[in-house]
Amino acid sequence: MGIRSLLLSWTLVALLASICSAESAWHGHTTPGSTRISRFTPYYVPPGAKSYDSSSPLIHYTGTWTESFAAKYIQKSAKFTSEPGAAMSFTFTGTGIEWFGSLDSKHGIAQVYLDGNPVERVDAYNNASMSQQRVFWTFGLSQGKHTLKIVNTGDKSGASRDVVMDVDALVVTQGPPPPEALTQQNMEVSYSDMPSYPPLLDLSSKFIPEDEWTLVQNGSTGVHAMQLTIISETHALIVDKVEHNPLTISGHPAWAALYNLRTHALKPLSMQSNSFCAGGTFLSNGTLVNVGGNPVVEDHTAAADFGDVDGLQAIRIFEPCDSANVDDCWIYENHSRIRMASPRWYNTVLRISDGSAMIIGGSLKGGWINNQTTNNPTLEYFPPKNIAGSDGLPIHLPFLVDTLFSNLFPIAFSLPDGRVFMAANRDAMIYDWKTNTERRLPRIPNGVRVTYPMTGTGLLLPLSPENDYTPEILLCGGSTVDDTKPGYEISSQDPASSQCSRIVLTDAGIAIGWQVEQMPQARTMPDAVLLPTGEVLIVNGAGSGISGYGNVVDQVGASNADNPVLTPVLYDPNGPVGQRFSSAGMPTSDIPRLYHSVATLTPSGDIMIAGSNPNLDRSEVKYGTEYRVEWLGPSYMKKERPQILGGAPKVLGFGQTAQLNIRLPSTSLQGASVKVALMDLGYVTHAVHANSRLVYLKCSLSDDKSTLTITAPPNGNIYPPGPGFIYVVVDGVPSSGVKLLIGDGRSPPVDREALENLLEKTSVDQYEKSRGEEKEDDSE
Ligand SMILES: *[C@@H]1O[C@H](CO)[C@@H](O)[C@H](O)[C@H]1NC(C)=O
Ligand SMILES: *[C@@H]1O[C@H](CO)[C@@H](O)[C@H](O)[C@H]1NC(C)=O
Ligand SMILES: *[C@@H]1O[C@H](CO)[C@@H](O)[C@H](O)[C@H]1NC(C)=O
Ligand SMILES: *[C@@H]1O[C@H](CO)[C@@H](O)[C@H](O)[C@H]1NC(C)=O
Ligand SMILES: *[C@@H]1O[C@H](CO)[C@@H](O)[C@H](O)[C@H]1NC(C)=O
Repeated sequence: MGIRSLLLSWTLVALLASICSAESAWHGHTTPGSTRISRFTPYYVPPGAKSYDSSSPLIHYTGTWTESFAAKYIQKSAKFTSEPGAAMSFTFTGTGIEWFGSLDSKHGIAQVYLDGNPVERVDAYNNASMSQQRVFWTFGLSQGKHTLKIVNTGDKSGASRDVVMDVDALVVTQGPPPPEALTQQNMEVSYSDMPSYPPLLDLSSKFIPEDEWTLVQNGSTGVHAMQLTIISETHALIVDKVEHNPLTISGHPAWAALYNLRTHALKPLSMQSNSFCAGGTFLSNGTLVNVGGNPVVEDHTAAADFGDVDGLQAIRIFEPCDSANVDDCWIYENHSRIRMASPRWYNTVLRISDGSAMIIGGSLKGGWINNQTTNNPTLEYFPPKNIAGSDGLPIHLPFLVDTLFSNLFPIAFSLPDGRVFMAANRDAMIYDWKTNTERRLPRIPNGVRVTYPMTGTGLLLPLSPENDYTPEILLCGGSTVDDTKPGYEISSQDPASSQCSRIVLTDAGIAIGWQVEQMPQARTMPDAVLLPTGEVLIVNGAGSGISGYGNVVDQVGASNADNPVLTPVLYDPNGPVGQRFSSAGMPTSDIPRLYHSVATLTPSGDIMIAGSNPNLDRSEVKYGTEYRVEWLGPSYMKKERPQILGGAPKVLGFGQTAQLNIRLPSTSLQGASVKVALMDLGYVTHAVHANSRLVYLKCSLSDDKSTLTITAPPNGNIYPPGPGFIYVVVDGVPSSGVKLLIGDGRSPPVDREALENLLEKTSVDQYEKSRGEEKEDDSE
């Protein structure tokens, strides 16, 4: 919808909005009935999908079937057979189908056919008894008519006592619709309030085929990818909120998974608490912490607790998992021992120079745009510290009061002098955590806000010994929308900002202030990904609107944003001003990546792009819940690449050297430029790429060019101790990354007294207590 038609229908829209009273992500209170734990089973019909009950006349049964009636079945009935050869067939129009039924110790093995072809043998045996389970699912069929047939094979696994097969319901999914012919071209937006700049990008400019990037769709995340981090050379960890994802664990939908980057295989992970809008970081010993969340995701029409534990104070532990076999990797939670002092939703988590986690800001309870009531204007540490008398308790940060309202998910980076850069809303500062002092920086120019829900993205640009590790910050995108406006005065068509702002964090650089450039396209919710080459890839996001869902007047589906930006852009921080952005050779995606999208560099050097879910729960309505993964391959992926053949130590202490056995590309000439990039690939959530870092290492090449001697960064200020990947970059072409642990690999310091004081003076799950005792579920 354009601005003009929007204004014309303003009254109608406002009226509709008040009737529907669609709610934001989570409004901080629960409706009556939602304190009752109801069953959280995989059965769910996403908006846009259609469910067919077992009794539907469109489902054809052959052989002997009986109908069973019980409250636990969908529509209170299900069809059963234990006759070998009995079959069910169903013809549907859509791109996916899900078969729901029961699992128990009497179930046998079914053969599933799609359009006449055998696709899978499904064993519905389970030693527990569970109803409303997803027995089989497939998405990504071609648009059109398909037939699902299931046949009772009469076979069973050893433990089963019978060969039962049942059908409770079938759900036909449509898949997210493709965007309408790249709608951003039709946008009616005005940049008249923006200063003008020289032309940014000439899309007609010729490019060399060799420079072409590739975009391949492959794999599904199984749980929606709200949060993403690379845990090893082979796997990524994906964390979502509690919702009806297709991936299942222990009879209910999973909300976290490990993703095999090579095979695209998934392993669902079990979590106790709701990780909705959490943040995360690795610690100095390689352990990952996932921090914060909320107590409950509720549906405003059918308030339901999903049986998860309150995640507001959660610290979830994921111990190092470096092997390609991830069978023994789990998430561990124990809120009576490991937790935060205060509740935090939308917090940023940063690894600091001593290898511990700084947990910054967030909201005490739900809400959308932060305010005085919901704000948690403090930070705390894991493990807890005693700083300025805090003794493990939260430390007040005036910056987080002064930056209200649009200040959730602050952008933060550890600086090479050990202090911390922080940006929130239109402001920025340098925080000395050892002395608890703030140094305010100049305001970000032109009224651009960069943090939730006016979400931009930020990076610490590459550090190198050549420039004495001079820190420079880049902030891109966001919005100039007034953060004092209520949702009903904000439009999904309000233009996003195209501004990138840079500041050098030396006294001289601060005196000069922010330098402003314009991206070729405006973006809210962009992701900025550092490449080993030192360039920055900017991808994902929307051309208009802001973060969140269910808040603005003219939501698209539930999305507060519209006009997906589908073409990535590369930013060269060292290029001449005015020529730093380029989309030459860049493919254009057909998958909108709006709120809750992610992108990260992978060990192999390409970019994994996933997510998008501006919805309360899984949806198939524009803009739906996106499970498809895309792999963006920079042009260097096709070139002959340098290789690290061996010699990388598992742990590399500060200032220590190591000898890498390498193979240079056969084409590299005498005097080739050889660099080594040490990278933290970051923890991505809500466009915050926390801990994302590139430090070039001192290195020297042996005369025979087969050994590269590298020197680790001098100390934990330059690279906070913890895991990283090293890439050898020869003439702009990087090798694959090899994982190592920088520092001594030891756990971060623990102040026992601060820890004890935190556990004694604060209570767990304060919000849970405040809303009363849980009732037992007696619905079965
Ligand atoms: C059911 O199977 C699981 C996994 O194989 C096992 O851990 C559990 O002990 C079994 N339960 C019963 C009641 O046999
Ligand atoms: C997807 O990944 C699998 C496993 O690596 C591979 O065999 C397949 O060829 C890939 N498909 C595409 C379209 O790249
Ligand atoms: C959680 O921590 C408490 C207190 O230290 C301990 O008693 C309990 O066994 C722990 N639970 C688990 C599952 O580790
Ligand atoms: C703050 O936000 C909460 C959650 O959205 C809302 O209920 C409350 O009314 C707001 N308070 C103020 C003072 O605006
Ligand atoms: C790393 O340190 C954290 C915090 O003390 C601890 O919970 C975790 O178990 C440690 N991991 C390893 C592998 O030692």
